[in-house]
Amino acid sequence: PTLFPTELPSAKPKSSQTPIATRKNKIDRPKETTLSQFVQAQVDENDGVPNIVGGDIVLKVTPVNQLVQAQVDENGGVLKIVGGDVVFPTNRYPYMTRAFGCGASLVAPNVLLCAAHCKGFITKVEIGRYDLKNNTETYETFSIAEEVPHPDYNRMTIDYDYMMLRLDRSSTYKPVELDNGEGEISLLQDGSNAIVMGWGTTSSGGSTSRFLREVELDVYSHEKCKAAYPNEQITNRMVCAGRSEKDSCQGDSGGPIIDKVTGKQIGIVSWGYGCASPNYPGVYAKVLDQIG
Ligand code: ARG
Repeated sequence: PTLFPTELPSAKPKSSQTPIATRKNKIDRPKETTLSQFVQAQVDENDGVPNIVGGDIVLKVTPVNQLVQAQVDENGGVLKIVGGDVVFPTNRYPYMTRAFGCGASLVAPNVLLCAAHCKGFITKVEIGRYDLKNNTETYETFSIAEEVPHPDYNRMTIDYDYMMLRLDRSSTYKPVELDNGEGEISLLQDGSNAIVMGWGTTSSGGSTSRFLREVELDVYSHEKCKAAYPNEQITNRMVCAGRSEKDSCQGDSGGPIIDKVTGKQIGIVSWGYGCASPNYPGVYAKVLDQIG
């Protein structure tokens, strides 16, 4: 079944989830105004240590509750992508959504696209954020009226890792366009350039940061993806993307990977062996499979 209705079915009664802990004491820092200042702030945050990725292989899916707890323990902020840069200008991806332990993207005024494995952990979301420690940022906060995971989502194989979230009202931010297969060349061609963004860790099991980060990757053909993961079922709902020492990572799940040229969303951050492990690309839920 396809998961992209223009309108979602009516609300279910709100589930009684325990709210995720959020950080109370935000640290105020001077507002950075230039790219180099942003980058310097990032280096300062990491004590000047460059982002180095360990080659360890970890669980396919970090339980989001552990992730959230780790974030709260660490500094409450969290965020990073491996081997990437902070996003500049900071409002470059207006659809990018902070989903507290996951990412998500705005696909219609009141609908987010996320990963099914994020289900049950998201109590509210924020759209328009960049620096999670800057409480003077302008952004919108929503609660989730309804979570609609794909009915075929399989938590063992992580197949059909799609979820729609209906917001309690409409956002004024501009939704992302989805890869609908239109256009002369497939956005999923081997070697096509893609960009993934998020507030996840900058290395597998690594430290956290507060800024939205992005990294450029190469899309893998289905054959190459299968060859990279011979012990896993790589289904037609999955697309790989990777580049040396660059990847999405824990906490980026549910967030968008977009085509670099058209800006269309081609996938959703789903799983991988570790992060940026040599020869193991990240695996994304393929948006095109659910369109049309
Ligand atoms: N499952 C992770 C999460 O819950 C995302 C992992 C992405 N991994 C990767 N190597 N690209 O945040």
